[in-house]
Order: sequence, then structure tokens, then C-alpha cells
Amino acid sequence: MARRPLVVGNWKMNGTRASSQKLVADILAGLPGNSPVEVGVCPPAVFIPEIAQSLAGKSVRLGAQNVADQDEGAYTGEVSAPMLREFNVSLAIVGHSERRALYGETDALVASRYAKAIGHGLTPILCVGETLEERESDATFAVIDKQLGAVLDLSGVESLKQAVIAYEPVWAIGTGRTASTEQAQEVHGYIRGKIAALNAEVADGLQILYGGSVKPDNAVALFGQPDVDGGLIGGASLDAKSFLAICLSA
Ligand code: PGA
Repeated sequence: MARRPLVVGNWKMNGTRASSQKLVADILAGLPGNSPVEVGVCPPAVFIPEIAQSLAGKSVRLGAQNVADQDEGAYTGEVSAPMLREFNVSLAIVGHSERRALYGETDALVASRYAKAIGHGLTPILCVGETLEERESDATFAVIDKQLGAVLDLSGVESLKQAVIAYEPVWAIGTGRTASTEQAQEVHGYIRGKIAALNAEVADGLQILYGGSVKPDNAVALFGQPDVDGGLIGGASLDAKSFLAICLSA
């Protein structure tokens, strides 16, 4: 199956109301009308309502950087899937390594967030990836197994029909150090193989993105790998020109 490439910008906690409006306007202006690449942006939550207005009727998808593991109630600081749906959000990053490492999100919590996204018709972008220490101790595949396993146990392999996986080696995020094409392909192939052992059709259709210091000058080679279906872009997504160049590489 030919998988459609997907490139998603993760703006993290950056920008202002004005700069985020400008960024989205510049992206819209620079994208070709019938882009073969699917494009998405994940602004800080507070900017979502305005960005949703800018994206109304456009092909660029709106995403959230996280989603609550509950629908409503006494969960200070969280934003639920039904709330996001009110603003035409269709993507939700879950399990980003910054959430895991800086805010203590466990595999179980990430799996619950993923399940809520699925349950409310959002497409979760499930981030998985190893730290440098884990890679150097040959634990990369074991880490991926554990992170994916928690989600598969709770939501089942069929849920991946409605999801995207992002392989993001922690050591490559925001460091300027990208995985080599071989390193990326090796893990992407491993993930697809693991899913294929459960359900070949789901594995075949699954978009697996690479994330970690993707820039215009390394995107073509990374996206050229057979199991790399696009990217989750942090730093370079804050600059419309770089982000557009990356989108056009996919
Ligand atoms: P980076 O971030 O492109 O700045 O490395 C990627 C990510 O964290 O999703």
C-alpha cells in the first residue's frame, strides 16, 4: 500500500499569539494547492482556537501537543479530547519524550491518553524512542517494545488504523544530532515488523514518522527510507521556510 507522507510541526511552548498567526499564514501561503503530502501543526493549546479559525476549510490539519486521559472533571491543567474536537483538532501528540522525561508521564498514562484520543475520533501521534544511555546499552528495541506494548495492551492493534507512530530518539531531539538514515530505518522497520506480526494490513497502512532534528538538508534522505513516512518536526517547524522545505521533501 502506498502510504501518504505526513509532516507535522510540533511548536512546543514557543511563540506568541501574533507569531503563531503569522507562521500558520505563511505555511498556508507556501503550500501547493494539491499537496501530495499531508501537513499538520500542533500549536500551544492556548492558541488553538485562533489557529483553528485560520485553518478552517484548509487542508492543513490541526493538532494538540497532548490530550487528557479523562473526558472532564477535576483534572487541573488538562485539556480533554472532546474539548479539542470542538475546535476541529484532529491530531494529538501523546507520549512525547519531553512529557515522559520532564513531567513523569508513564507508559500507562500515555496509553490512557492514546485511548481517549482514539475514543473521541482524534488521531493520536504516539511518540516512542530511546535515550542515549538506552541505545548505548542495546536497549532500544526493548524500550520500543515496552512503550508500544502498553498501548497495544489497552487499545489493541486495530486502533493503529486510526493512529500515527513517531519514532523520536531522545538523543536526537533538539540536539542537532539526527539519527542516520540507517538508524532511523532500522527502528522504523522494527516497529512495522512488530505490528505486522499482529496484523499485516494495519502495519502496511501505518504512517511511522521520524522525529529528532529534522532539517531541510536531512529530510530528503530520512524520508527516502522505505519505512519512514514523514516527520514530526520541532525546532525547524517554527520557521515557515524550513518547515515548508521539509514538507516538500516528503
Ligand atoms: P526537534 O524536535 O525537531 O527540535 O528535534 C522534534 C520533536 O521533539 O518532536
